[in-house]
Amino acid sequence: MALLEILKYPDPRLEQVCPTEEQFDDSLRKLARDMIETMHHAPGIGLAAPQVGRHERLTVVDLSSGAEPDELFVLVNPVVLETHGEVREEEGCLSFPDLMLIVPRPERVVVEAQDLHGKPFRVKADELLARCIHHEIDHLDGILFLERVSPLKRDLARRKINKRIRADDW
Ligand code: NI
Repeated sequence: MALLEILKYPDPRLEQVCPTEEQFDDSLRKLARDMIETMHHAPGIGLAAPQVGRHERLTVVDLSSGAEPDELFVLVNPVVLETHGEVREEEGCLSFPDLMLIVPRPERVVVEAQDLHGKPFRVKADELLARCIHHEIDHLDGILFLERVSPLKRDLARRKINKRIRADDW
């Protein structure tokens, strides 16, 4: 296993749309293992392939950050089938160190995905798990959480980020 470098905003690779995964091979499985290790090490509760510079439709989510094997989800080609409700809560992103934003997300989601062998499965998620899965699927479409807030809040956040970049604190 290997720790991967997590790309930070405004790396343009974070804003690319990842194509559908068609090869369920050892290299995809190795990437998933490395991403899980990287996410746990960060520590974080979700990580998407473009955040480690890989243009693959793969994301990993683990609300327990490695404490509970049952809480680890590896989602290949995830698709949101249903959303219910909306909640505004604070969230972060490993590509935006120490930046928290209040982002509206569905309260519940039903997602269909494939495992690392191509087998389809469904996840019904609510609360934080729904938020996290929704955030990670956004990454696969090149959508960052900055885009989910109002233009005013986005500008404020961008200014804060630019200031931190200039101060070498990013
Ligand atoms: Ni993120």
